[in-house]
Amino acid sequence: MPTRFDPSGPLRGSLRPPPDKSISHRAALIAAMGEGETAIEGYLDAADTRSTLAAVGALGAEVQGVHGDAMEQRLGVRGVGLRGAAAVAIDVGNAGTLLRLLPGWVAGQETGTWTLDGDDSIRRRPVDRIATPLGLMGARVECRDDRLPPLRIDAAPLHGIEYELPVASAQIKSCLLFAGLLAEGETRIVEPLPSRDHSERMLAAAGAEIVREDGAVTVRPAARLEPGEIVVPADFSSAAFFLAAALLVPGSDVSLTSIGLNPTRTGLLTILERMGAQIETEPEGERGGEPSGRVRVRAARLRGTEVGGSDVPLAIDELPLVALAACFAEGETTIRDAAELRRKESDRIATVAAALTALGATVETSEDGMRIEGGGGLRGGAVESHGDHRIAMLGAVAGLASNEGVEVVGMDAAAVSYPRFEADLASLIAG
Ligand code: S3P
Repeated sequence: MPTRFDPSGPLRGSLRPPPDKSISHRAALIAAMGEGETAIEGYLDAADTRSTLAAVGALGAEVQGVHGDAMEQRLGVRGVGLRGAAAVAIDVGNAGTLLRLLPGWVAGQETGTWTLDGDDSIRRRPVDRIATPLGLMGARVECRDDRLPPLRIDAAPLHGIEYELPVASAQIKSCLLFAGLLAEGETRIVEPLPSRDHSERMLAAAGAEIVREDGAVTVRPAARLEPGEIVVPADFSSAAFFLAAALLVPGSDVSLTSIGLNPTRTGLLTILERMGAQIETEPEGERGGEPSGRVRVRAARLRGTEVGGSDVPLAIDELPLVALAACFAEGETTIRDAAELRRKESDRIATVAAALTALGATVETSEDGMRIEGGGGLRGGAVESHGDHRIAMLGAVAGLASNEGVEVVGMDAAAVSYPRFEADLASLIAG
């Protein structure tokens, strides 16, 4: 049954979105690598991060605070130590971050074999991007057609390398940072453009030797990690759906509280401001190395913009929302340098363009982006999520701002990152 989102009145009020997905994955993995117990405050309870908790449990970590279907606000994870991962088969579900990060840790164990596999969408996500550099470090990694999951990893001694990332990807960088902890000698990773740096921050807070320069990060081998406590801010990428809805529905005024404001994640704010949005941010300080704060946004008239280069990794998961906003902006918007969008939970250049076109927009795609003709808003119609959580939520927001409403086919995909999305959205509409 499709889920209908009718054109709505203004969104108003304040809301704390769910905990950050990227940071939650890292919290569970780094706690599992750690010594003793790590308290994680505000772990995301969603399908993707449940996959990661199940994985660290299978690897031997003890997770406390999950009771059947309920997860406490504060979890305790007793780690197995950097070299204590049990050899098991892991089902990553839909979680690309788990698929790309975990191999870095297990590849450097002293003995054992691990396999990683997941759902149909995971089986289309490339893993040669991690298998190649891990191989250069001495790891034994095999994947289907040398490119795709399932993935098999046999423990092997690793040595540090200097590696230039072919794409700006926090997942590849994080995988190599994990492997570097277990390697002999230093591992230096050079990034073409800055990408999210949660792993660097969390590993440094857990006692790892991480040296950061402009455009590169170096990790030294570690004997042990002691994370102690990890605090997870609310997810900027989840907040982004409400930011977009508030901007596009006339009369809206919404505040989002305690959201992660790490500058490697908030590129959307820069892009929206360029489009004419007035966004107020009020920092609340840093906890566990991650800044957070309140963001207030009001409906605004937007103009088209050009998105490319360093904008892209800093807003990679929010580019679908830029395309949506562009439909309501005066003039044309172009997104370039974003070929990575084709390798997400769905081919997001194709699925975003199909969704917006089905709702009445004029969108032209290219290999690395799209061009959107603004000015017309959206008529409405039906959007297929293709099992992609961000496309499902994009469809919902499009419905509120459209003339005739939107039916989303496959709204259940939202549970991958945001199970309470519909209820939270409804609370702002009623607000
Ligand atoms: C993520 C990094 C990004 C992002 C993904 C989560 C992470 O992927 O799109 O949703 O947690 O490291 P890439 O590293 O492939 O760009």
